[in-house]
Amino acid sequence: MRPGSVLLSQTQIRTRVRQLGRSITHHYRGKSPLFLGVMNGALFFLADLLRAVDLDTEVSCVRLASYAGKQSSGIVNGLDALGDSFAGRHVLIVDDILDTGRTLSALTRHLKKLGATDVKICVLLEKRRKHEIPVKADWVGFKIADEFVVGYGLDYDGRYRGLKKIRVLEKPTK
Ligand code: IMP
Ligand code: MG
Repeated sequence: MRPGSVLLSQTQIRTRVRQLGRSITHHYRGKSPLFLGVMNGALFFLADLLRAVDLDTEVSCVRLASYAGKQSSGIVNGLDALGDSFAGRHVLIVDDILDTGRTLSALTRHLKKLGATDVKICVLLEKRRKHEIPVKADWVGFKIADEFVVGYGLDYDGRYRGLKKIRVLEKPTK
């Protein structure tokens, strides 16, 4: 498997991240939201989004994983590592992609249990498919076809995160 055709260029990503930044700034005006990046996929998106908002933000990261290769394992690992600093906070979860919905629904529930006042979700990508668990993201960069994509933080078994464009993962032709 290797990165194939370009789905989103650097310019498309940059332009959309700026738009999301403006919308998020408008929404949280007067508040100090806590941006919670889901590692490792949200690495670049979180960094770019943070610089696209004009807000008094705090940042934290959580490392969650549910994938092995191209398959969702169905189990979300890493929630226990979340600290207790979420009580009373407006939390914005920042993730690379909404696929089955398992990761984001489990994380949202967990943050509410930890006392967050409000939990919202911003994803760069959302796959056009029926999410196994119904989750609604509040901000979505791009809705994409149900294909496996890599680049700009998204990986295939740890590879290709550093690609600047987002590409569809393809089978080699020979
Ligand atoms: P969900 O729990 O199935 O919604 O999966 C979300 C996580 O799976 C994302 O945060 C990604 O890390 C990973 N994932 C889902 N689809 C893709 C993809 O097309 N490329 C790379 N990672 C993906
Ligand atoms: Mg991820």
